[in-house]
Amino acid sequence: MASLIQRYRERLPVGTDTPIVSLGEGSTPLLHAPRISRRLGVELYLKCEGANPTGSFKDRGMTVAISKALEGGAEAVICASTGNTAASAAAYAARAGVTAVVLQPAGAVASGKLAQARAFGARVLEVRGSFDEALSAARELGARGTHVLVNSLNPDRIEGQKTAAFEIAEELGGIPDVLALPYGGGGNLTAYARGFDEAGATPRFVAGEAAERSSTVASAIRIAAPAHAATAADAIRVSGGKLVPLTDEAILEAWQELARQEGVFCEPASAAGLAALGSTGLEPGTTVVCVITGHGLKDPETAARLSPAPDSVDPDPAAIEAASR
Ligand code: F0G
Repeated sequence: MASLIQRYRERLPVGTDTPIVSLGEGSTPLLHAPRISRRLGVELYLKCEGANPTGSFKDRGMTVAISKALEGGAEAVICASTGNTAASAAAYAARAGVTAVVLQPAGAVASGKLAQARAFGARVLEVRGSFDEALSAARELGARGTHVLVNSLNPDRIEGQKTAAFEIAEELGGIPDVLALPYGGGGNLTAYARGFDEAGATPRFVAGEAAERSSTVASAIRIAAPAHAATAADAIRVSGGKLVPLTDEAILEAWQELARQEGVFCEPASAAGLAALGSTGLEPGTTVVCVITGHGLKDPETAARLSPAPDSVDPDPAAIEAASR
């Protein structure tokens, strides 16, 4: 399969001399969701970004950001992260042979993501502070020039992430009426807005954010001050879309519906787009794409906490038969 950069080379900031650092990202499934479609009275598709190499949409941006960093002669990259950016940066840096320094808010990163960053050999630093404070520190180091910043403030990240819009437009044979997605820092919303703009038309953006940004169960979007707030607000307004603040309960209800009704296991933050659709008046027959941003295995603790525990049985067919009813 072609790498994301090969597939969209002419629409990305790469030249013939850019070394391509790829793990086979992009070209993710667009799944029809028949049961939730019926409930909402719309045609709902799920863009399953958990199918990317490190299990989140971050890989689309990271292949471009790390390739460009390598082209520029970088020896080290840095990011602050609620977990997924860190896992992705660590993987692509390992592939490129450069050092990744990842700053994570202490005690606030789901275990799957932490395991990834450590396994890829990144220098993982737990910051005694919030994501927002870690991001300020990473920006400062990026500005000093010792490290290349690979957060979504790096424009190459946005360029890479816009390709998801191209894939959706190609696969649907047009632009959906609505695109629903989680809103943390707003980088992904900014990327979709650019991607659809370049694809020729823009859907209405429905963005789900945690009402309690600093303490939500959806740790991936535990961000107090979105870095892309202005562009995100613009994109929503211009598209005629909507920003929907969500309770944790609404996010987890959507998370459970995706798993149980459609067989799609995502991390809690990834269900925020679907949760936001609940309070959006949608005309019957509307075509909606919901971006499922990260894989469920990223956050096994939350999944275990919210799901029934297994019962214990002896390896005895009669006992198993009785217990399975
Ligand atoms: N969904 C997931 C699974 C994420 O990891 C993130 C952001 C978002 C949605 C929100 O995207 O910030 O572009 O609006 N994760 C970042 C990280 C903050 O560090 O991994 P956004």
